Amino acid sequence: MADLEVRKLRPDFGAEVIGLNPVAPLDPPTLRRLRAAFKEHGLLIFRDLNPDARFQTYLAEQLIDENLIDPEALHVDEYHQVSNVEKVAVVPLGRLMFHSDTMWEEDGCKAISLYGKHVEPGAIPTMFLSVAHAWKTLPADLRAKVEGKVAVHCADATDQRRSYISDDVMVVDFGSRQHLPLPIGYRHPRTGQTLLYISPQLTHHIEGLDYDESENLLEALFDHMYAEENAFTYNWQQGDLLVWDNLTMQHARPDLRSEGAARTLRKTLVPAYMIGDDAPTVEVRYARLADWVPSEQA
Ligand SMILES: [Fe+2]
Repeated sequence: MADLEVRKLRPDFGAEVIGLNPVAPLDPPTLRRLRAAFKEHGLLIFRDLNPDARFQTYLAEQLIDENLIDPEALHVDEYHQVSNVEKVAVVPLGRLMFHSDTMWEEDGCKAISLYGKHVEPGAIPTMFLSVAHAWKTLPADLRAKVEGKVAVHCADATDQRRSYISDDVMVVDFGSRQHLPLPIGYRHPRTGQTLLYISPQLTHHIEGLDYDESENLLEALFDHMYAEENAFTYNWQQGDLLVWDNLTMQHARPDLRSEGAARTLRKTLVPAYMIGDDAPTVEVRYARLADWVPSEQA
């Protein structure tokens, strides 16, 4: 078993893991330790790990899957990456508000990993917060208002013209018109924690309320969950690997521009079959996003 040290990052979420050797497969005791840390902290940071694409894919999968995975059997995509300088890239420019990926899909993305493949000094950060913590700390009056209520999520709800949505927000077209209703106090299927499961970019409305009532309640909930002290800003360093629980954690980034410091992050989604098989193919998705320009330049 690897001699791992797990260092808590902050009281509400996050830990840094020190001492992992990025060679697959990992032994079962090491995997148990890592899975326990992942379940407890929601976000794991491995500094200066420099994993290859196969190990990155394997590790993220194994943090969710309790069965032993054959690393050689995994679908690996070296060029599934977020980048402001590379031609082949997803979500290349613009600001991303706090969200979980694929909130509109039933049984969607369970975990995400990002690896700092090419990062220049001054590259813009990624921000995180815990919606388990947001639920735990939800004031009693707001909790009473959302008790038993259901929110409807879709691929993009920014057409709601919410007051806090600015022109630099990137609107991603995944070609999905799915709408998914889920309880606002959503029970995490794997950890059992209750999550405050809404986001400004992907939550369309609250069922049973008229437009103004729904928007007012959502804004009050967003004010609570996105309070500055709840967010952790991670400044990218080349070589670092981050893996997070896509349901427990939400992520965001400030406006990303092609003229800024290079920032190419290799990305994996769990389950790995989400890349390529279902919905838009990787090529279609890349092509669509490569066409995107920020609204003020359009
Ligand atoms: Fe995302």
